[in-house]
Amino acid sequence: MRPRTQHYNRSLLLLALAGLTQLTYCTKEVQEATSNEIIASAARPGGGGEGSVTRYPLFIPTAVSGTSLTLTAAPGTHNLGNASTNVWEYNGSVPGPTIVANKGDNVSINYNNQLPEPSIIHWHGMLVDHQNDGQPMQVVPAGGTYSYTFPIINRAALNWYHPHPHMTIGKQVYNGLAGAFIIRDAEEGALNLPSGKYEVPLVFRDITLDKKGQPVYNPTGGGYFGKTPLVNGTRDPYLAVDKAVYRFRVLIGSTSRVFNLALSNGAPFTLIGNDGGLLPQSSTHTAIEVCPGERLDLLVDFRNVPTSSKIMLKDLASGWDLLEFRVTETSVAYSGPLTTASSITALSNPVLTRTFSFDGMGKINGLPYDMDAISFEVPFDQTEKWVFKTNGNGPHPVHVHGASFQVINRTGGRGQLFAWEKGWKDVVLVNDAETVEVLIRFDAYRGDYVMHCHKLEHEDNGMMLNFRVK
Ligand code: C2O
Ligand code: CU
Repeated sequence: MRPRTQHYNRSLLLLALAGLTQLTYCTKEVQEATSNEIIASAARPGGGGEGSVTRYPLFIPTAVSGTSLTLTAAPGTHNLGNASTNVWEYNGSVPGPTIVANKGDNVSINYNNQLPEPSIIHWHGMLVDHQNDGQPMQVVPAGGTYSYTFPIINRAALNWYHPHPHMTIGKQVYNGLAGAFIIRDAEEGALNLPSGKYEVPLVFRDITLDKKGQPVYNPTGGGYFGKTPLVNGTRDPYLAVDKAVYRFRVLIGSTSRVFNLALSNGAPFTLIGNDGGLLPQSSTHTAIEVCPGERLDLLVDFRNVPTSSKIMLKDLASGWDLLEFRVTETSVAYSGPLTTASSITALSNPVLTRTFSFDGMGKINGLPYDMDAISFEVPFDQTEKWVFKTNGNGPHPVHVHGASFQVINRTGGRGQLFAWEKGWKDVVLVNDAETVEVLIRFDAYRGDYVMHCHKLEHEDNGMMLNFRVK
């Protein structure tokens, strides 16, 4: 079976469609499989992948730009590589189309909910006002629509979009609803980083398939861990790469799973950016641990790798083989940078400290989410120190809407900050026994926002609260 080769290797940059193409949807509903029987070969702990494993071309979602877009969420079928699977999709694609916009654009996006249940889209990482944030209280019913209009005020970064209903976010994301949202700006553009087919979005997640190849989602309060990795919705993927420098835009789109990314040849990634765009300083790493919601901007240099070599992108945490790079004989010159720097003004002098305990599997400071309650008010444009602690059942990827933050300290547990936690962040991983401090200032919009655990099963259980910027 052939995957969607019509999208394969399409450039992120060169495609400038006027709007999202409406595709025809299959009306088949995603069925929550009742069978727990798992395809035995689906789990390959320890990896070792090459040889017996059949690999499929990595799917690259279509890139769309333009200031007037439509996103339709609907049931459909998706080719994982070797089988057609019932999914929920945005515009007939898993992951959804990659939206590309420029800082300063005004974008209008019409959301069309063709799912059999309420949903709404949240623009994770985007600085937008309450009306455009896609929060749980803004869900529209099956068949409903929602119109978003907002200026792009973020700096260049990889953000993303996903559903944000309360108590069903885990299921909806698991079913396939998520996409990348790339912002460009002049600072990043001037760098001449790899572009076109040399800039590749990589959305990592996990899934469990039953004997018929259909997704099974039966989470416990502690989370959900699938048996098979997917990259851009492709199972056992490979990507043919030239002897060139590549820019990989990594998004962790799993509901619970934390990944520890590494290359099988021991070569380092050059880390240039994260959630909030370019880091103050690039650095090299042979392994990077990332949690649900986090993003990485990585350069990988294949220029000196022998033709026909195969390099595996692995998850050291599970031992999984995630993505095989097959090096072609084509050599491509690169005149862009292999190191980057960006000046980021450090937040300082917090006037107030707030402490949040992520308790068990569904509470913050002892309380589950109350959609009608505002837990606290934050003065506009005031720098505060927020302290995230856990009370068991970690790891908790803590996410805040309405502002990015700067991580300043981690004590207990891993006891350090990592290079990919510098700069601007909107998700930070808090393991059990860890206390993480961030500085945050809401200087974009006044209004109501949410903070929550981005382990989606914890979020569905209520590990979320509302606060008001005023
Ligand atoms: Cu990625 Cu409130 O979410
Ligand atoms: Cu949590």
